[in-house]
Amino acid sequence: MSQTFEEDLAFSKTLHKHEAERGGLLAKITSKDKEAFENVVNNYMRYWVGKDPMSESEEEKEARRSNYTNMTNSYYNIATDFYEYGWGESFHFCRFYPRENFYQAIARHEHYLAMQLNIKPGMKVLDVGCGVGGPAREICQFTGAHITGLNNNDYQICRAMRSAVNIGLENKTNFIKGDFMKMPFEDNSFDAVYAIEATCHAPKLEGVYGQVFRVLKPGGTFAFYEWCVTDKYDPTNADHRRIVRGIEYADGIPELFKTSEALQALKNAGFEVISAEDLAVNDDQITWYYPLEGDMGKAQCIWDFFTVFRMTHLGKFCTRALVGGLETFGIAPTGSLQTQRVLETAGDCLVEGGRLGIFTPMYLMVGKKPMSVN
Ligand SMILES: C[S@@+](CC[C@H](N)C(=O)[O-])C[C@H]1O[C@@H](n2cnc3c(N)ncnc32)[C@H](O)[C@@H]1O
Repeated sequence: MSQTFEEDLAFSKTLHKHEAERGGLLAKITSKDKEAFENVVNNYMRYWVGKDPMSESEEEKEARRSNYTNMTNSYYNIATDFYEYGWGESFHFCRFYPRENFYQAIARHEHYLAMQLNIKPGMKVLDVGCGVGGPAREICQFTGAHITGLNNNDYQICRAMRSAVNIGLENKTNFIKGDFMKMPFEDNSFDAVYAIEATCHAPKLEGVYGQVFRVLKPGGTFAFYEWCVTDKYDPTNADHRRIVRGIEYADGIPELFKTSEALQALKNAGFEVISAEDLAVNDDQITWYYPLEGDMGKAQCIWDFFTVFRMTHLGKFCTRALVGGLETFGIAPTGSLQTQRVLETAGDCLVEGGRLGIFTPMYLMVGKKPMSVN
């Protein structure tokens, strides 16, 4: 199942035609290699389809955990263009406030994390699971630190590097291909480490947190937003299980863990816990999931209307009709419409999980590596 880095890169270049991809969603999906795209969609689906969340066997779950690289990479190979189209270059949620537009809110969430780390100009900082580099570029500009983005997905790395060059940040950022469960860095390499909604893809949280602990310098801080189920989640409740399994399936996650398990994993990895707080538990007027509800009434400026419109019923209908039409005429690869549907499931389940308070995308934990490690 696992491929070498060279095989992975060669496949990514065939699938996405790295040099060809430019423009918006339609330009990108119509330029994919059709056979490779169909294969990757089928490969992703076989981890999930037909499996009843209430009676899923341990074996089925184990297949996802032990093939986490293949599963998650397949997911991002099909979903990345849709994420960028629907959400932008930072693939994460945030809190929203009145009179603050969508992209300001996204950036504030990144600045808030940088503040937890007390990042100073010249520091060497690691971004674990960096996506297409939106947060890395923002935090680099905000703090003046050097940011290394680590990511398992070649296509995202290619996009991150290109965007960094486009805005003149190629000497202040670098993007490295690697698995966060086996980081390709020396011990004690970074002054600070952050992760935004990425470590939830780990099959075991101790694994990724332990790697962060190893590569962080003694006295350094790790701050991150974790996707978790909360104490309100009851796995014996069929509705809860359907929603959480829907989030796992539609977001490429082997298994979501409880906030208490994540906190324990941080301690087990050796960190001193500085703070742990679910930022989704608040009295904000605007919820973190409002864009996914397609609630145009909460858009704060004209540009937010365009972002939120894509997630309204009408917006989703238009995308489905366009993508489906292109697929029917053989212009977009088979599986494009299915990908759009997977992402709609993601949106619906995240909203349901948020409304019930059984899921959070922003369990903020801050841990410190002690100065002396036994
Ligand atoms: C939801 S995205 C968040 C990306 C980024 N932090 C952001 O906020 O824009 C999750 C990221 O984790 C990366 N990822 C998942 N599993 C990984 C692994 N085992 N090693 C490295 N990166 C991984 C994915 O490729 C993806 O870029």
